[in-house]
Amino acid sequence: MIDADGNEYYLQEGANVALCRCGGSSTKPFCDATHKANAFDAPERALCPLDAQPAETV
Ligand code: FES
Repeated sequence: MIDADGNEYYLQEGANVALCRCGGSSTKPFCDATHKANAFDAPERALCPLDAQPAETV
């Protein structure tokens, strides 16, 4: 996995990972469940990359 800054993270093939969206994780970019302690609430779901494309480019 490569983040927006170009940092590479080597993951086991087939590994499931959760990315931090709350900003509180001490293991960013991965979630460490800190969101539970800071009561982070994000009811919206992430879009798949194809869904995130502007309609005119699909
Ligand atoms: S989403 Fe940030 S620690 Fe889980």
